[in-house]
Amino acid sequence: MKIIPGPASTALGEKIAELTGIEKVAVAHRTFPDGESYVRLEGNVQNEHVVIVQTTSTPQDTSLMQLAFMANAAKRNGAKKVTAAVPYLAYARQDKIFLQGETKSIEAVAAMLKAAGIDAIVTVNIHAENALSRFTFPAKTLSAIPLLAEYFIKKGYAKAFALAPDKGAMHIAQQAQIVLGGEAGHLEKQRDRYTGKTSQTGTDLNVKGQTAIIFDDIISTGGTIVGAAKILLELGATRVFAACAHPLLIGDAEKRILDAGVEEIVGTDSVPSRTSKVSLAPLFAEELRAQKSG
Ligand code: R5P
Repeated sequence: MKIIPGPASTALGEKIAELTGIEKVAVAHRTFPDGESYVRLEGNVQNEHVVIVQTTSTPQDTSLMQLAFMANAAKRNGAKKVTAAVPYLAYARQDKIFLQGETKSIEAVAAMLKAAGIDAIVTVNIHAENALSRFTFPAKTLSAIPLLAEYFIKKGYAKAFALAPDKGAMHIAQQAQIVLGGEAGHLEKQRDRYTGKTSQTGTDLNVKGQTAIIFDDIISTGGTIVGAAKILLELGATRVFAACAHPLLIGDAEKRILDAGVEEIVGTDSVPSRTSKVSLAPLFAEELRAQKSG
């Protein structure tokens, strides 16, 4: 097995290689003046199971093309198997048709990756597990939530309330609850399918006088966390934190969240940012070790 730390996840890929002791293959990359991507593998991958570590957050289309090119280059140079380790998988949120005339974006992405030579994909906290069924090759998702919850345990917040900002994220809050040992609950979120606007309402949540941590898969514009923090504070939570696997943090999301009374935002290095305080390296390392021995 060899690891290719892709241009979008160089630091994470190198950490995984270090933790596992798996040899790295460097990749040279650049962008042409018109915006097109160029990649070149700088090592031998003949007869190897190659693992390409490449996140696909913004600029997602560039990152996806680089991933496809690295996979194609690996196969052209004799790799016997290519696994894509994709911390954040772009386009996974559109996995079904909501309005007539739409596409299943993740289905198109899966087809493109397969055509490029990818044989298997491992991602982290995919928005909907159902999206995995759009892949016609082995696809699995790992969870960063226990690692995020452990971060809060180390900071002294055992027994904190784990809140899911919508019902769909309740499984995430429950994973955190197992580590934190406190209570868990969720808000209700409604979305207008035409405008995309969302609104949230609180259910019976026992957060008065408690530290609460909002757990979500993605923080994008921050609107969901801002709304959830407002409700928690109105319900009497004394301290509010936010944690997510994928800190996309578009525009001024970080500032808006902190202005809403959230003390700290904790994300992973799936999307490198100032909030990436938890590394996914141990999670991927464990998965690769299992694949090597399995
Ligand atoms: C959607 O259901 C996801 O789980 C996240 O809650 C959402 O993507 C967050 O988006 P934003 O930060 O823009 O509210």
